[in-house]
Amino acid sequence: MSKDSLNRLRLRIEDLDVALLKLLNERAAVSVRIGKLKGQNGLSIYDRSREEAIYGYLAQHNQGPLKTSEINRIFSEIISVSRKLQSASARDDSEPRMEWAGDSDTSALSGKTSVYGILGNPVAQSMSPLMHNAAFRSLGIDAIYVPFEVKDLESAVAGIRALQIRGASVTHPFKTRILGLIDQIDVTAKKVGAVNTLVLEGNSIRGINTDWTGAVRCIEGLLPIKDNHFVVVGAGGAARAVIFGITREGGKITLVNRTKDKGLALAEAFGLPFVPLSETENLSGDCLINTTPVGMYPNVEEMPVPKGVVSRYKAVVDVIYNPFKTRLLREAEAEGCLVANGFEMFVFQGVEQFRIWTGRQAPVELMRDVVLERLGTT
Ligand code: ATR
Repeated sequence: MSKDSLNRLRLRIEDLDVALLKLLNERAAVSVRIGKLKGQNGLSIYDRSREEAIYGYLAQHNQGPLKTSEINRIFSEIISVSRKLQSASARDDSEPRMEWAGDSDTSALSGKTSVYGILGNPVAQSMSPLMHNAAFRSLGIDAIYVPFEVKDLESAVAGIRALQIRGASVTHPFKTRILGLIDQIDVTAKKVGAVNTLVLEGNSIRGINTDWTGAVRCIEGLLPIKDNHFVVVGAGGAARAVIFGITREGGKITLVNRTKDKGLALAEAFGLPFVPLSETENLSGDCLINTTPVGMYPNVEEMPVPKGVVSRYKAVVDVIYNPFKTRLLREAEAEGCLVANGFEMFVFQGVEQFRIWTGRQAPVELMRDVVLERLGTT
């Protein structure tokens, strides 16, 4: 190839890059306008069906030579940037409620303020304080929600009674251990075998599980649960909630776990077939669900199953939402699978907690947006 023709091709690339740059900025300007409209009308920034529609028309119009999976990868980044732009412009143009979203104004606290919190370790990364505080403030409820990094769970539970903490979320690694330390456990939480929500009633602590409702809602956004076959990876608290929800809605499950004993124990409790993680490649089904922390920030290049496995499923769900799209979901999308992350699960377990604690309908859109905005900036 002559040097001249190489230079000519490079100049052509440069022209195309400049044209693409112009189009990308035009697209970004439209996104900002959409964000403003969403902000003014109190609509959620994240709209999964709209994002799916975008991938749909891209696949329809794609004439190659780029593969649809390659186009999807590129647009996944464009859409992610658009979401951030929309969040920022929605905040600028929204009703005053958004002013409450991220601030840390404590001047309104008094001796009458109800205290809620989250018990976990670690807990610094939790989005629950942001989400619940935004909800309390937007509805003018005199309450605050704080993170508690728990060193000693038994003492923490005693502290809830002693300090009259009205309610708490329970997260990793305490969702099953808490069962033996509280006074009452809801029938559903008993069946799940895990508690993620505590309510103080007088001096008695009641444990509830709201994780499973979030899981059902998330999965049903992709495919019907009834009569479909789900392969669930992991045997911790998150797996229990997912398994309970799917079983309750009439789905079939195969359980997969790294540690055989732990996996077998959970499989037996729910009457499920068990397969060790090392044999996942022999499995297939309608939907693969990851409930392990593998792939979570900062280990974002890790995957709970080998790469090729995702092509054996129509849909793939990851309970992780930080990063918003794990490597598992990116690989699945490239294979043409429907995907969902743990974002909706997380928001809806919180929405249900809020209803239980306050007796009020939660401001769902606001709760979604504050978490989305924070995720977009980390
Ligand atoms: P949670 O209650 O939040 O679901 P957990 O009880 O610690 O968390 O459960 C985490 C699950 O992820 C477990 O099933 C764990 O597998 P093991 O039973 O073998 O410990 C699984 N898990 C965690 N890290 C993993 C890894 N690196 N590879 C595979 N599975 C992993």
